[in-house]
Amino acid sequence: MTVPHTKDHRTLQVAASGLLGTVSAEEALLLAELDLQRLPRHVAIIMDGNGRWAQRRHLPRVAGHRSGVQSARMAIETCARLKIEALTLYAFSVENWRRPKAEIDFLMQLLREYLRSELPLIHKNNIRFRVLGRSDELPASVQREVREAAELTARNTGMILALALNYGGRAEIVDAVNSILAEQRAAHAPEQVQESQLAGHLYTAGMPEPDLLIRTSGEMRVSNFLLWQIAYAEIYFTETLWPDFSRPRLIEALLEFQKRERRYGALREGEQPLVAAPVRASAR
Ligand code: FPP
Repeated sequence: MTVPHTKDHRTLQVAASGLLGTVSAEEALLLAELDLQRLPRHVAIIMDGNGRWAQRRHLPRVAGHRSGVQSARMAIETCARLKIEALTLYAFSVENWRRPKAEIDFLMQLLREYLRSELPLIHKNNIRFRVLGRSDELPASVQREVREAAELTARNTGMILALALNYGGRAEIVDAVNSILAEQRAAHAPEQVQESQLAGHLYTAGMPEPDLLIRTSGEMRVSNFLLWQIAYAEIYFTETLWPDFSRPRLIEALLEFQKRERRYGALREGEQPLVAAPVRASAR
């Protein structure tokens, strides 16, 4: 993949940033802080703010989407180079069908263009491509493009790149439950659905759960994204609009992730419980 041009032209090479190739001075400083052993396994991104980015420049909204593709390319390349196991990008939600037809058509065309031009590089970089969502409701041409991309890269062993397309978190859970029920019906073994069965029937089956969810543009919502999977994810909100989300901004998000302490509901390491000894029943 080609390294995108950074806005900072003072570039330098440092050992810690070897994975990313040529980096800017700003990136080198950030990378010096990054612990490559403690990166998230799965990064999920709500790419928000394309419309506002365009509006601020008196451009049509679609110009924001086109510019957003550059940020998506940067995120894919950076995560793959850092050997992050999985990257999920929220490209089109089940709610996005409510947008004007012209914008939807543009987004679908952009996806087709993106896949057509980037697929050889995605494949060459050993990336596995998959789609999360009700892909059977996408335009036939997009379905064909994503199916071919998934088939071509299915045997790759590097990062999983998941595009959430016609995706809704609630729809995903409903689809998972229905698929479990269908299996039970076929096996003539009706049972109660167990929590442990769900993960294997979600669109993300086989992927680690996201440990870092990033949302750009200052909105502080989850917007029906990976509702089941983000139960323990660290959430990082930034004011930066998606087309401005450059490689230094992504490294900052990874650094913030490394500052957080993940306890999964347990106490901090070494923390004393409030009640030191078990409470004895009072003798009467
Ligand atoms: C949200 O911005 C963005 C989207 C609905 C589309 C995201 C799509 C891309 C970045 C391009 C396609 C991606 C790939 C991987 C090829 P918005 O329009 O809601 O922005 P606003 O909130 O400022 O209006």
